[in-house]
Amino acid sequence: ATELNAIAQQLGKLYFGTATDNPELTDAAYTAILNDRNMFGQITAANSMKWDATEPARGQFTFAAGDVIANLAKTNGQLLRGHNCVWHQQLPSWVSNGGFSKADLLSIVGTHCGTLVGHFKVAWDVVNEIFNDDGTIRQDVFSQTTGMDFIATAFRAARAADPNAKLYANDFNIEGPGVKATAYQNLIRTLKSQGVPIDGIGMQSHFIVGELPANIKQNIQDFVNLGVEVAITELDVRMTLPATAALLAQQEKDYQTVIQACNEVPGCIGVTLWDFTDKFSWVPGTFAGQGAACPWDENLALKPAFTGIVNGF
Ligand code: XIL
Repeated sequence: ATELNAIAQQLGKLYFGTATDNPELTDAAYTAILNDRNMFGQITAANSMKWDATEPARGQFTFAAGDVIANLAKTNGQLLRGHNCVWHQQLPSWVSNGGFSKADLLSIVGTHCGTLVGHFKVAWDVVNEIFNDDGTIRQDVFSQTTGMDFIATAFRAARAADPNAKLYANDFNIEGPGVKATAYQNLIRTLKSQGVPIDGIGMQSHFIVGELPANIKQNIQDFVNLGVEVAITELDVRMTLPATAALLAQQEKDYQTVIQACNEVPGCIGVTLWDFTDKFSWVPGTFAGQGAACPWDENLALKPAFTGIVNGF
């Protein structure tokens, strides 16, 4: 097939990539596609670098599963995005149970982010999903204990651990203009004015067929104008099952729209699929009755969406 990362790089983008997960790596037909760096020039661990996987008990770091993904990227000659340092989900109970003083939790956050970023020297989603859709700060153990201070602590610890890692805030529903995108733009201004290192915004881009936000390109440009890079970090376009020819045709258009928006803004550096095949997509397990969100189907055959990506570049 046409190779997506090769096309992306020819057109001046840094990478076209995909998420993957450790249990999937035993599937030889799957890894044959995954390991082709001309198809995917970048990979993200879908789960194995999250807090529950890396620091299950305080101060006890386990990198075995994350290292499998990091080493795979290295072997394949692919870039690696680290995902993620601080998130309200997939936390070990010793963190989510809370009960810390503010100073203690900031120390925990700093140690966690610094240790992760120091171990895997790559681009990192330092904070993930910290705002609600209305632009207010999400209420979780981090904000309830520290206010907004965990954010600066996380970024500073990440920078101290690796001066070269690109440090991102990552979220969904910020792909188009609106109050949530504005909240991130304000955060970028605030952090930069305080000398807190933030390099990028990750737009997760978990879309629904036919329901893309308007003005994605302008929105990407608005972020770039604030002095950060933008990456599309978790792209998929789900539908209510069963997939029909009409839905697959709309999905092709939707993939093309997203790729084109990133492609047309120089500061949008790359695109990552949240896995490339419906066989391993997170969508059916999370959104009842929905699926078929990826460009490869459950049998690893290409769908119209693949053509949409090619045409978007
Ligand atoms: C998802 C994984 O794909 C699933 O395997 C896991 O069960 C739950 O998390 N936004 C994110 C990702 O930032 O970490 C999520 O990944 C999908 C939504």
